[in-house]
Amino acid sequence: MILVTGGAGFIGANFVLAWLKQHDETIVNLDKLTYAGNLENLASLKNDSRHTFVQGDIGDAILVGKLLVENHPRAVINFAAESHVDRSIHGPEDFIQTNIVGTFHLLEAVRAYWSALPDGEKTGFRFLHVSTDEVYGSLAKGEPAFSETRRYEPNSPYSASKAASDHLVRAYHHTYGLPVLTTNCSNNYGPYHFPEKLIPLIIVNALAGKPLPVYGDGQQIRDWLYVKDHCSAIRCVLEKGRLGEVYNVGGWNEKANIDIVHSICALLDELRPRTDGKSYREQITFVTDRPGHDRRYAIDARKIERELGWKPVETFETGIRKTVQWYLDNQRWVNNVQSGAYRQWLEKNYAERDQ
Ligand code: NAD
Ligand code: DAU
Repeated sequence: MILVTGGAGFIGANFVLAWLKQHDETIVNLDKLTYAGNLENLASLKNDSRHTFVQGDIGDAILVGKLLVENHPRAVINFAAESHVDRSIHGPEDFIQTNIVGTFHLLEAVRAYWSALPDGEKTGFRFLHVSTDEVYGSLAKGEPAFSETRRYEPNSPYSASKAASDHLVRAYHHTYGLPVLTTNCSNNYGPYHFPEKLIPLIIVNALAGKPLPVYGDGQQIRDWLYVKDHCSAIRCVLEKGRLGEVYNVGGWNEKANIDIVHSICALLDELRPRTDGKSYREQITFVTDRPGHDRRYAIDARKIERELGWKPVETFETGIRKTVQWYLDNQRWVNNVQSGAYRQWLEKNYAERDQ
């Protein structure tokens, strides 16, 4: 079996669902259920004995140690994190606690478990750490995409905390020999994406007739990857990745934010036209920029393709159409995630931005 952390969040839940579609290998899913964790993402597994959910913190080394000894996993995949850059700007502390201190305690618990395994199992064990391209900082126009040897230059409290966690993972390999793998991925999008992030926020706001907030000039570039492609990359690295190595994962889809917003508006105009006959583009509103906003991310994903044979399946055009359709088809999920806490967050993040 495998132990997954953060498996009630966006990418973790997609990973758990995809894994159990392909394998009968069981999963224990440890998740604290912060505002970003949602058991509704896993509702289809309600009566599936291959999935066991445990509410808890990766920083609780006693709980993690107990789960490891009782369940005897062959691998741990760490998705758990505070993941939203804007929240890290408003309040970095949770990011330090979970992404740095939490990862440290998780590593300690895993090291204790792994050290006590018999030799054969020790060799086969894997700790896979899911990280981000944001640790590399920001690219200028025309600069080559981030390769695995790119210098770390994190610019936000979020990316700094993820960078710290990557360094801890690396150190546990070099110092203790823990069999680790690290993936640094670009921006994901797809089903179950919490509507605090750009793509789901734009879809949800458009349908609700609200403004579509674009930070600054909207020319910042992200490299978009459909979440199911990210999940297949993680499975591939888990099975074939070389120990201690880092693999960058990306979709070869560099797009400016304003173009992403235009694409979503065009799809909604086609699939769910506004009743007044106007385009959703009318709702676009340029607002005050994010402090320290990274201008451009782009992933050079040649290493994972060359060494492990992984490539994304979706283009941005196919992936964004599926995504918009998913949000149209899952209005109940959308309504349920828009809790009081979610509305408070929108107030905090957007009320003070000038238009
Ligand atoms: P998310 O915010 O949607 O989900 C995070 C999950 O972790 C939630 O279910 C939350 O409850 C859980 N969690 C938070 N703190 C925890 C703790 N202390 N103990 C246990 N569980 C905890 O995030 P996501 O977008 O699914 O990202 C998953 C991972 O992938 C993160 O490590 C993130 O840094 C990384 N990543 C995300 C993207 C992206 O575009 N979303 C891209 C690259 C890398
Ligand atoms: O690059 C990988 C990272 O991608 C992950 O590590 C993070 O966990 C994930 O949240 C994401 O970070 P970003 O900051 O790039 O994603 P976000 O969806 O918040 O923003 C995408 C771009 O859109 C960014 O340039 C900021 C901009 N934006 C975002 C929001 C929420 C807007 O213009 N308006 C908005 O309202």
